[in-house]
Amino acid sequence: MSYTEEKIEIREMRYEDLDEVMYIEHASFDMPWTRKALEEELFSLIKYYYVAVLNGRVVGYAGMWHVVTEGHITNIAVDPKYRNRGVGNALVSRLLQTAEEKDMLGVTLEVRVGNETAKNLYQKNGFVVTGRRKEYYENNKEDAYIMWHYLIPVECIE
Ligand SMILES: CC(C)(COP(=O)(O)OP(=O)(O)OC[C@H]1O[C@@H](n2cnc3c(N)ncnc32)[C@H](O)[C@@H]1OP(=O)(O)O)[C@@H](O)C(=O)NCCC(=O)NCCS
Repeated sequence: MSYTEEKIEIREMRYEDLDEVMYIEHASFDMPWTRKALEEELFSLIKYYYVAVLNGRVVGYAGMWHVVTEGHITNIAVDPKYRNRGVGNALVSRLLQTAEEKDMLGVTLEVRVGNETAKNLYQKNGFVVTGRRKEYYENNKEDAYIMWHYLIPVECIE
């Protein structure tokens, strides 16, 4: 079966997913979130967290805060063994679908300027670079691009 024929299920993240999500987090980032931080995210009322499930296994996750009229993507990561087969795309699509359902005006995020893979993923899903935060990341003082996906025309935002 080719990758594209595989059925990627996106569902809300549950407490029981935390072990698999923490594994993905550690495999994906130099400065992974702590388990406690992720637990707190799950109990927050203004967030949406999803996992991607492939053949019964959690292979990725993504989260977004709902801040007044905006969505702020907090994180997205895919198990290295399951990358490049559409899992990241499916997760971003789900976040954007939620943003539309909740009548958000747009969705924003920060991404390391050197993270071409993630930048491509976001651009492919309609995000554009709108700014840059100097030395945003503590570990290596790397800059962050600010990206936005507007859900209504910019001229309509007052
Ligand atoms: C970024 C990440 C989530 C992408 O997940 P993925 O499941 O591999 O992504 P997909 O297979 O859905 O690919 C979607 C798009 O991402 C981009 N992309 C994916 N892998 C890429 C690579 N190796 N190089 C360049 N672009 C890449 C492409 O635009 C791709 O679209 P295409 O296949 O039509 O070319 C994954 O690489 C990851 O977990 N990285 C480490 C954590 C991270 O950096 N998170 C982002 C924090 S802001």
